[in-house]
Amino acid sequence: MSAILPPAERLWWKHPLDRVEGTWIAIAFAWCMVMFFMMIYWHAYGKQNLSTETYKTTPEQFSAKAQAVVDKYTVRTETADKIPVVAPPEGSDVYLVARLWAWWPILELEKGKTYKLHLTAMDYNHGFSLQPANINIQVVPGYEHVIKVTPNQSGTFSVVCNEYCGINHHQMVGRIYVK
Ligand code: CUA
Repeated sequence: MSAILPPAERLWWKHPLDRVEGTWIAIAFAWCMVMFFMMIYWHAYGKQNLSTETYKTTPEQFSAKAQAVVDKYTVRTETADKIPVVAPPEGSDVYLVARLWAWWPILELEKGKTYKLHLTAMDYNHGFSLQPANINIQVVPGYEHVIKVTPNQSGTFSVVCNEYCGINHHQMVGRIYVK
């Protein structure tokens, strides 16, 4: 049978299954099952468990909450744009706003302490990619994504937008400090 010519017999699914074809179907199916159960396994045992809760929100509601946290816990500002560096206490809600083309504010967290990170996009889809750690979260406008984070490494981390969002997408970089 050829892919160019139409099948000689119309009921092609009644042809006997070739041994090689059958073997590959079996291998692919077994691998699908492994991947499927790994999702469940990592949910319980993975160290970077990024199961997020998601709620509906609006840019107005979210920026009001983010602004309140920034007003309360800003410790200094950085760069010529005076971006606030926010150091919230352990266990508290931390807000990060994605918009064309910036992450706001800068967060300063402490190693080994747990925070609830809230993310939303003000305009279009953005992607939260934490570098150099391998963490990716889709940030969707209209939705508030809440992730429990416990930094396990100190240092300076970059937040890179990994969802194409326009002409300055490549400049959409934020920062998270872990002390
Ligand atoms: Cu935001 Cu790309």
